[in-house]
Amino acid sequence: MTRPDGLWITFEGGDGSGKSTQAALLAEWISDRGRTVLRTREPGGSDVGVLIRDIVLHHRGDIAPRAEALLYAADRAHHVATVVRPALERGEVVIQDRYLDSSVAYQGAGRVLDADEVRDLSLWATGGALPHLTVLLDIDPVTARHRLDADDKPFDRLEAEKEEFHARVREAFLALAMAEPQRFLVVDASTDPEDIAVLIRARVSLLV
Ligand code: TYD
Repeated sequence: MTRPDGLWITFEGGDGSGKSTQAALLAEWISDRGRTVLRTREPGGSDVGVLIRDIVLHHRGDIAPRAEALLYAADRAHHVATVVRPALERGEVVIQDRYLDSSVAYQGAGRVLDADEVRDLSLWATGGALPHLTVLLDIDPVTARHRLDADDKPFDRLEAEKEEFHARVREAFLALAMAEPQRFLVVDASTDPEDIAVLIRARVSLLV
């Protein structure tokens, strides 16, 4: 896909890695520099996506791994077509929580599907759309779990998975970042949120 004048930045990382906090801080910083920012997320960044999000996160009982991968891919297809691509064509900055790397990490490594097939499915769904920059907030899942516990919100289906699942997801994210160093910025998410924000701004300032 062509990405005319817009800038597309995605945030990835395990549950409790602080993605939403950092995405919000970055969005504020970029709008202060005079750009129009669109904050969005997957799953659930479109009207159809809200319905899909409810299934993937709150369905009681199992969802077959391939069905789950297809649901995330369907959410992504509609989101890119109706939200992300139009915003980029208007020249906006899209700041997004999670994208296809989450599918590769969670459905590919965390579950039992082939990582390349999961990635290809998302690429097909979106016509090959990839962000300019992906910020990976890397954190030990045990530390992240303590943060989520402190939040006091009930766990969704994926958060409730075992520690070993989250360790595999973390390794998968790191492997993705190693494979595409030019697209990824990896930051240690266990440090102070303001320090993390400064690192992210330094990289983004090369792009805005
Ligand atoms: P969300 O409430 O957005 O959590 P977080 O703050 O951790 O991003 O929940 C999204 C959940 O969906 C999260 O556990 C990861 C999972 N997920 C996948 O398994 N595959 C995907 O492709 C995406 C986008 C998310």
